[in-house]
Amino acid sequence: MLRRPRRNRKSEVIRELVVETTLAKSDLIYPLFMVQGDNIKQEVPSMPGIFRFSIDNLMEEINECVDLGIKTFCLFPAFPESQKDKYATMSYDSENFYLKTISRIKREIPEACVMTDVAMDPYSSDGHDGIVENGEILNDETLEILGKMSLAQAKAGADILGPSDMMDGRVEYIRDLLDDEGFTKVSIMSYTAKYASAFYGPFRDALDSAPKSGDKKTYQMNPANVREALIEAELDELEGADILMVKPALSYLDVIKELSETSNLPISAYNVSGEYAMIKAADQKGWLDGEKTMLEVLLSIKRAGAKIILTYFAKEFAKLNL
Ligand code: PBG
Repeated sequence: MLRRPRRNRKSEVIRELVVETTLAKSDLIYPLFMVQGDNIKQEVPSMPGIFRFSIDNLMEEINECVDLGIKTFCLFPAFPESQKDKYATMSYDSENFYLKTISRIKREIPEACVMTDVAMDPYSSDGHDGIVENGEILNDETLEILGKMSLAQAKAGADILGPSDMMDGRVEYIRDLLDDEGFTKVSIMSYTAKYASAFYGPFRDALDSAPKSGDKKTYQMNPANVREALIEAELDELEGADILMVKPALSYLDVIKELSETSNLPISAYNVSGEYAMIKAADQKGWLDGEKTMLEVLLSIKRAGAKIILTYFAKEFAKLNL
């Protein structure tokens, strides 16, 4: 035999020498859920190890993660139903606890990089990412609200804005507005190819943000399509996005690969709540080794072409200190 591929697997040292993909803490973004109040740390039932934090506990969590080497956080607020309305007006009220928390983090933990969520659903009484009129999601009218929300988050000190709504033209709309107001340094990580996925279930439980009627299929993408993702990527790039995201990650590794080969922008992938929940559930039942599965899954996302991974496993990964 002339070729024996096993020679390159014969020892740990050789395997490390020929390794093609590695994971680093600096690749990861940790999504965190927040609620108003004091001394709250409620576990999300479908996401063991993931909590809804009040501000005091959130600050502590972020400090702990920064010490562990996780530096970027994507924050999601859970607002009470009583503060939601049709036009998500709470989303740009400078007194809302989400915006106040962003400022506090940037003030007290300046080394933390803060990414926000730009979408109406946590503030919308309809539970949709856009304005609902006669059962339809209005695109252009929604842009105005996304713009106000983006500006409020930039003013609060956000480093990266994450438009997750999938309205057409929102990256350009937001970029123009930010630049006009002097926020040229605020980045946009666009949820470029966000699919209408069943894997968001646990997240919607965490935020009580499920749509009150219908589904999100007129704005989030059809899981059957990958060519369409290339159109979204082309537009986001032209509109001024800094980083392109694919979401979810695991059932869409081909989309990650496709985008990473066609765009020169950094690609990120969101290893979403349902993907986390599956591994945790199987681990708790003793059906899978949770830690090994986590490492394999994160590696596969990176191998597919994502430089950045948003994952609920970020802290757990950092604790392994690999
Ligand atoms: C909505 C939003 C969703 C997630 C992030 N932003 C859910 C949705 O579109 O309904 C899901 C994240 C996850 O499942 O971990 N703007």
